Amino acid sequence: MKFDTPATTNPIDQLKVVGKPYDRIDGPLKVCGRAPYAYERHDVVENPAIGYVVGAGIAKGRINSFDLAAAKAAPGVLAIVTHESAGKLGIGKRNIAKLLGGPEIDHYHQAVAVVVAETFEQARAAANLVRVDYAPSKGAFDLHASKDGAVKPNMGEDEPDSATGDFSAAYEAAPVKLDETYTTPDQAHAMMEPHASLAAWDGDKVTVWTSNQMIDWAASDLAKTLDIGKEKVRIVSPFVGGGFGGKLFLRADAALAALGAKACGRPVKVALPRPLVFNNTTHRPATIQRVRIGATRDGKILAIAHETWSGNLPKGRPENAINQTRLLYAGEHRMTATRLATLDLPEGNAMRAPGEAPGMMALEIAMDEAAEKLGIDPVEFRILNDTQVDPEKPERRFSQRRLTECFRIGAEKFGWSARPQVGAWRDGRWLVGLGVATAFRDNKVMTSGARMRLSANGRVAVETDMTDIGTGSYTIIAQTAAEMMGLPLERVDVRLGDSSFPVSAGSGGQWGANSATSGVYAACVKLREAVARQVGIDPATAEFADGEVRGGGKSASLAGVAKTQDIVVEDAIEFGDLDKTFQQSTFGAHFVEVGVDAATAETRIRRMLAVCAAGRILNPKSARSQVIGAMTMGAGAALMEDLVVDKERGFFVNHDLAGYEVPVHADIPHQEVVFLDETDPYSSPMKAKGVGELGICGVAAAIANAIYNATGVRVRDYPITLDKLL
Ligand code: MOS
Repeated sequence: MKFDTPATTNPIDQLKVVGKPYDRIDGPLKVCGRAPYAYERHDVVENPAIGYVVGAGIAKGRINSFDLAAAKAAPGVLAIVTHESAGKLGIGKRNIAKLLGGPEIDHYHQAVAVVVAETFEQARAAANLVRVDYAPSKGAFDLHASKDGAVKPNMGEDEPDSATGDFSAAYEAAPVKLDETYTTPDQAHAMMEPHASLAAWDGDKVTVWTSNQMIDWAASDLAKTLDIGKEKVRIVSPFVGGGFGGKLFLRADAALAALGAKACGRPVKVALPRPLVFNNTTHRPATIQRVRIGATRDGKILAIAHETWSGNLPKGRPENAINQTRLLYAGEHRMTATRLATLDLPEGNAMRAPGEAPGMMALEIAMDEAAEKLGIDPVEFRILNDTQVDPEKPERRFSQRRLTECFRIGAEKFGWSARPQVGAWRDGRWLVGLGVATAFRDNKVMTSGARMRLSANGRVAVETDMTDIGTGSYTIIAQTAAEMMGLPLERVDVRLGDSSFPVSAGSGGQWGANSATSGVYAACVKLREAVARQVGIDPATAEFADGEVRGGGKSASLAGVAKTQDIVVEDAIEFGDLDKTFQQSTFGAHFVEVGVDAATAETRIRRMLAVCAAGRILNPKSARSQVIGAMTMGAGAALMEDLVVDKERGFFVNHDLAGYEVPVHADIPHQEVVFLDETDPYSSPMKAKGVGELGICGVAAAIANAIYNATGVRVRDYPITLDKLL
């Protein structure tokens, strides 16, 4: 089904099942330990051998030689695979560095060997006996030191620079100016479940049970890595214990489980130990961002510029921190620039809201600073510069944009009018302050397919390679199918995360919920047609309700229709140009109250509120969970998260969950989320948009702005740890 004209009324609008706050249907499996994760697939493979990955001990250079004698002789060892024994390997389209390194080493803890043994302990002990003789070479590890050498990156279809009007002249002439530089650190996804895979060969075909957000990408990239046909690869990932972008890509666990299994002629499972997750896989790159805002005295932005610097391995992409600045606020004269330095740190790549998440951390402090210079309330300053059109292309309007309402409702609900003067609110030992920021994230759409099966038991099954990374995909897909087929939720079975199912949008870029349910919608339209035709009802007027199809004076139960043979159909949603004709984005306003200890500068968040406008909310409970999870992650970005770079040796030092701090329950006392009641007919037949990444965008800046309001200390270097406040 092609979606290229705005959606009109359709069966989803009945909202009998969609839009209701159902509990996650996979919840009981998860809390009872019955959701099978990749490392625990005892149900599919008995007694696999265990692979342990050896990561490179240098950040850049070459392997001269291996000494594997001691490791090979160690108890229980079945096989050791290195680049010398692996045979011909390719590199996946989405991998920057090789998943099995050697002889060249691209980054610290790049895999150089997998040791396969009978038990985990034997594999780990033998891995410690692998001797590698390296010829290290000098690398670049410090973004600040490499900034001046940064260049315009090749970004495919995207241009690294944008310019509208005459920024320099307008900025020079502006009566009120702000010019500040902000920095964000490298960050880790720090998901609960580490990367893990179980591989089993059957002749020249391999099945890999893994933990991955994008099944089709993983299948293509594993085939490429192993230099075999894609039809020889099956990827299975029905449950994912968190991803945040860290599992968008095929990683060493999957590739080395497959190589290890081939080498020892037996299924092999590999989990990356936590330290390897941090340096072997991807991370969100650090940024340096300069923001300039020139405004009239009454607060109209005349000129706005945002420049960003980040680093990556050769062939890696920049962190696109300027994205939102091109679209968020009005202003005639504008420019953005993206520069990329070559760094030899582990691979930088997407983490929850890549681009906007760090970009908003800078832009939204800058907006607070500009509002203060102007003597205008920061809520009013943002509303004053709201726009209904793309500021670079005024003929192109937003499909829907209710940012001002988000602020008005949020300000009222949060008690924003009680915001104190800077440093003026004291509550015992706490200095208290309020902060605000915009939330903004693009709404991308992706082709997404599904297969539907109606069986004689009257149940409908949905199969799609869509993943559920803890987000609620199972539930909203079941809700969509139930609504379309006129069934209760309990009569829908959802099977996800298998490359033998139709290719879906996958879980990334907050496009998953809207795109994947639209794919299910398309397949359901086909199933409705097939069912109606079978009972001789005009598909155009057929109604589906209470487990029956009705029309033209006839009715039939769905179970009866499939009595002699299952009805199986497949379709995909394909998106036309509506997302180019109209700018599709999601919006929100974040309000935060913090207390800062007057003596120690310890910061405690006291209250958080997000008001979001993101199209139809398919399930208010799972959507709320996405937003509060993202707000929590934003709190981590504001106050804690910081991958510390060893600038001599080129790796992330705090490579575990003890040293890499993320918020715990005690850090997040009170969160509230309000969704505006809206539908966006330009986004899809579901009229929904994404919320999973919207929630993180702007939160950190709202916290930074609240800290400033409490203390009068403006910190422009994240995370805002207490040493920076004293
Ligand atoms: Mo997201 S960073 O595209 O999983």
